[in-house]
Amino acid sequence: MILTRILALLLALSSFSMLSIPTAQAQNFSLAPLPYPHDALAPVIDERTMQIHHGKHHQAYVDNLNRAIAASPALAGQSLEALLAQVSKAGDAVRNNGGGHWNHTFFWESMTRPGQGGAPSAALLAAINRDFGSLDQFKTAFRTAGLGRFGSGWSWLIVTPEGKLKVISTANQDNPLMDVVAERGTPLLGNDVWEHAYYLQYQNRRADYLDAWWQVLDWSVVSRRHAAAVK
Ligand SMILES: [Fe+2]
Repeated sequence: MILTRILALLLALSSFSMLSIPTAQAQNFSLAPLPYPHDALAPVIDERTMQIHHGKHHQAYVDNLNRAIAASPALAGQSLEALLAQVSKAGDAVRNNGGGHWNHTFFWESMTRPGQGGAPSAALLAAINRDFGSLDQFKTAFRTAGLGRFGSGWSWLIVTPEGKLKVISTANQDNPLMDVVAERGTPLLGNDVWEHAYYLQYQNRRADYLDAWWQVLDWSVVSRRHAAAVK
């Protein structure tokens, strides 16, 4: 009798876990490994900063996003981009942590070893010249946006809905995909100007970080994003 009850209990637990696992997986976002070793961006961005930035800060955004979605089942099963496009309805936890997850994934993929990033494609360079005057003028605008962001946030190069390139900045972990920002668009690149991105190496010298960062920007990635955005 006792054995029968134990078997029934095990069967019940087994079917519960079989039913619950797919739902739990569908709700979970995860942290992908960096696309290069932690020391690959040195000396522009040091290894320790990359370890903490990716392994601690980005991991925390992923964990907190999963907690927020677990607490609001109506949000489950949506892509991150879909959540961000209507983030005004999803609440601040998804706004901050979903933004943090998307922004950092995009950021890691935008960088490569110093000096290996190549140059903008002909089409991207033509668009930069058309909308900023020159590559140097674009870099100045991007630097100004990063320096001018008071506190924590991001600077972005976007393609506007009208097809123009534009530099903007957002606060905290907001990004141009969200329905809460003043200017939406398709991001081509973003730079993290939170102090956690540079403080170990550059301390309060955000301008030095911004100037050095061009050395690790992967222009081939930015060029591919631009081609997809204007297709
Ligand atoms: Fe960051």
